[in-house]
Amino acid sequence: MWPTAEERGVEPGPQARQDGGGSRRSSDAGRSAAAAAAVTRERPSPYDPGRGSATQVPGSRSEVGGRLGTMARAGMERWRDRLALVTGASGGIGAAVARALVQQGLKVVGCARTVGNIEELAAECKSAGYPGTLIPYKCDLSSEEDILSMFSAVRSQYSGVDICINNAGLARADTLLSGSTSGWKDMFNVNVLALSICTREAYQSMKERKVDDGHIININSMSGHRVVPQSMTHFYSATKYAVTALTEGLRQELREAQTHIRATVRVWPGPGGDGVGTGPPPGTHILPREPMARVCCLELLGVY
Ligand SMILES: NC(=O)c1ccc[n+]([C@@H]2O[C@H](COP(=O)([O-])OP(=O)(O)OC[C@H]3O[C@@H](n4cnc5c(N)ncnc54)[C@H](OP(=O)(O)O)[C@@H]3O)[C@@H](O)[C@H]2O)c1
Repeated sequence: MWPTAEERGVEPGPQARQDGGGSRRSSDAGRSAAAAAAVTRERPSPYDPGRGSATQVPGSRSEVGGRLGTMARAGMERWRDRLALVTGASGGIGAAVARALVQQGLKVVGCARTVGNIEELAAECKSAGYPGTLIPYKCDLSSEEDILSMFSAVRSQYSGVDICINNAGLARADTLLSGSTSGWKDMFNVNVLALSICTREAYQSMKERKVDDGHIININSMSGHRVVPQSMTHFYSATKYAVTALTEGLRQELREAQTHIRATVRVWPGPGGDGVGTGPPPGTHILPREPMARVCCLELLGVY
């Protein structure tokens, strides 16, 4: 079950993401979002006229619209026909993200254990006439063998992964004082280990094909940033803190490797998925998944 009640009303907006800067592309998405509100221009500063200062000047509607349109087209062109892996695409947030990417013309490998759901989604995308393709892949992410076979199938059939969206995650109501070890292992295997294995394999896939503009996005939670006083969520929260640390560590390693591949963590801002286990409590305001998937992933990729 999700710590949804606690997260309600306190989750920050998508701007609360920790963005893996440090690359020449790092500010693309942020810049475009800012462009919607204002255009930043250099003006001489009254305090230091020689240096100038960045001043917020409202952009006209048509100016901003035109700029966003150009960026959107550039983003779509950049990713068209490239391959994104979305883990946990059989439902919830992962399915919404996969659909949004296919709608924008990407080739998406969606994986999960309940592959039938992804097959249905693929058929839906096809009959809707979306320009991309959804390729369903059955994978139990708690098995390293399964993950490695999936990457090797992607390599042999489609060359490799350009975008890796580590979305799959689960929460079990296993407290620290009396929870089951198997529940902890389930959470750790998918939320932490699978995310790390997929990240490593995606990076190696990009490296061997000399892809220098790939993107690894980890879907995180506010539970990765604060521990709520709800015992059932404590182990889950620990796995999400791990996601925070892993993304920052990855960002540092990518910088050391002098690559422009980006690592970004997206904090999902509140109840929005089907909800692992019991789902959000009745009456909880559910964030609409489709628009949120756009904000959380497409914007990062420079596609709107
Ligand atoms: N929902 C929220 O309110 C919320 C808030 C903050 C953060 N998040 C994060 O967002 C992500 C998605 O959440 P959600 O609400 O969309 O969850 P969900 O609806 O329960 O979907 C979870 C997905 O993960 C997959 N998965 C779980 N265990 C797996 C395994 N062993 N192998 C392969 N796939 C597995 C599931 O597929 P199968 O069961 O078919 O394998 C499913 O596709 C998670 O990382 C979560 O921590 C969610």
